[in-house]
Amino acid sequence: MEHRSVLLQESIDSLNIREDGIYVDGTLGRAGHSSEILKRLTSGHLYCFDIDQEAIEKSDIILKKISDNYTIIKANFVFIKDRLNQLGVEKVDGILLDIGVSSPQFDDPERGFSYRYDSRLDMRMDQSQSLDAYKVINEYEFNELVRILRNYGEEKFAKEIARAIEKERTLAPIETTGQLVDIIKSALPARVLRKKGHPAKQSFQALRIEVNNELENLKIATEKALELLKPRGRCAIITFHSLEDEIVKKIFKEAALPPVTDKRIPLKADEIPQSEYQLVNKKVITASKEELDENRRAQSAKLRVIERR
Ligand SMILES: C[S@@+](CC[C@H](N)C(=O)[O-])C[C@H]1O[C@@H](n2cnc3c(N)ncnc32)[C@H](O)[C@@H]1O
Repeated sequence: MEHRSVLLQESIDSLNIREDGIYVDGTLGRAGHSSEILKRLTSGHLYCFDIDQEAIEKSDIILKKISDNYTIIKANFVFIKDRLNQLGVEKVDGILLDIGVSSPQFDDPERGFSYRYDSRLDMRMDQSQSLDAYKVINEYEFNELVRILRNYGEEKFAKEIARAIEKERTLAPIETTGQLVDIIKSALPARVLRKKGHPAKQSFQALRIEVNNELENLKIATEKALELLKPRGRCAIITFHSLEDEIVKKIFKEAALPPVTDKRIPLKADEIPQSEYQLVNKKVITASKEELDENRRAQSAKLRVIERR
């Protein structure tokens, strides 16, 4: 399936794009957001990051048709600051992160992200990395599996599922997503299997987060993004589940706190120190009804935006 960019209008508007500005898209995907940024630049420049080679190749074709004012960097967005500094870019006007798996990644049976296809256990966004879902499922200890399923999948039956995985892999390695779905189903009580939604959804989410180190990467990238902003520069981040949104919310909230002052020393109104950053939207932005009607992926999307003063 083609990738439909989520919260496209809202996120592009929120960046307040200047035609001569320097912008960064940390998650190029299929260049949905990047195309919109690039269209708005005249003398400005756009730097795009992705770890997926296919995303880079496909997006390059799309962006080339718009203008030459862009550079694609194949790197994890945790290195956004280092890689831009290496290119002589110290500060930027705007940064966008649209976190998660793209539809083409999810819908490609070869990539092993989906429980809808029976494929090799993979789930790597960066296909050159060595850790994949096969290793996690076949090599992680019981306690580690429980931790992942519980913390990243919020799976109530983490222990039961981890026990079933352990039992099965002593007989033979677990090779495919189909096998894993059957093992998960065998560990869940009948009343849970009868519930709405796929029984492997939470476990697959947990595995994907572990394989791609998604939460830790998001935390690092958000902090680096804030450091990179010029005064009046903005950072917009779209997330798709509560664990991710909590990370962004906390970092943005702390950045927008005024510096601590000695309460015993009275200050005039104009002497009170201001925070270095301010939240652009106090309340999180979610998809409009129109977007929700067209794209189910937008349901859990949340956009937060911050500006450097
Ligand atoms: C949801 S898609 C972005 C879609 C894009 N905004 C669009 O409109 O086409 C997320 C993309 O970010 C990439 N990605 C995920 N984690 C990454 C990371 N740590 N560093 C760089 N790219 C990453 C994925 O490979 C995927 O292509």
